[in-house]
Amino acid sequence: MSAVHVISHPLVQHKLTIIRDKSTGPKDFRDLVEEVSLLMAYEVTRDMPLEDHEVETPIGKTVGKVLTGRQVGVVPILRAGLGMVNGVLKLIPAAKVGHVGVYRDPDTLKPVEYYCKLPVDVEERQVIVLDPMLATGGSAAAAIEYLKEKNVTSIKFMCLLAAPEGIELLQREHPDVPIFTAAIDERLNEHGYIIPGLGDAGDRLFGTK
Ligand code: PRP
Ligand code: URA
Repeated sequence: MSAVHVISHPLVQHKLTIIRDKSTGPKDFRDLVEEVSLLMAYEVTRDMPLEDHEVETPIGKTVGKVLTGRQVGVVPILRAGLGMVNGVLKLIPAAKVGHVGVYRDPDTLKPVEYYCKLPVDVEERQVIVLDPMLATGGSAAAAIEYLKEKNVTSIKFMCLLAAPEGIELLQREHPDVPIFTAAIDERLNEHGYIIPGLGDAGDRLFGTK
């Protein structure tokens, strides 16, 4: 079963509370989602491999560490995942970005895929899938399935809020994919929204409601 990491860092938790607040408007919401994504990316990349690297300082020689291993690919699930991209890129500027478009049908709550554009070498990369909300888990599971069909083997999933139902589905369908979240909320309501959640992430990011 995949691991679930809850990022309990005080800065993440403080900012998440402001993100949840219904009086936080789109600009602050966007800024905070970006900031939290950057902070969370520290934890998501904690196991990146390092190798020794000789370096000459102005005073003398020493052996430091540099990153080795897979390059990173960042894949936001459109649309709300877009809000997390810049935060992650600030930390990993060399990462390439792919986009997977999935929306949740409001009646069936089933994911509908409508777009995909990935880096050409995506299968060689450590891919971090971004979506602020893991609700039923359908959208994340579909996006990850799509990446696996493209031969991507190394995938992590990063969200702001996860419902127990979504975690269960993702662990069942993709037990190899670790989940990183800032909080695990109580449950879903009858419309598939996370309780207490933060509302509709896409609408709050882009001011569409
Ligand atoms: C939201 C959210 C996730 C999905 C989560 O997207 O950003 O992608 O719902 O729900 P699930 O876990 O039940 O699939 P939405 O479908 O509202 O599309 P949007 O990002 O375009 O607003
Ligand atoms: N999508 C959202 O944007 N919010 C939820 O609570 C659930 C799905």
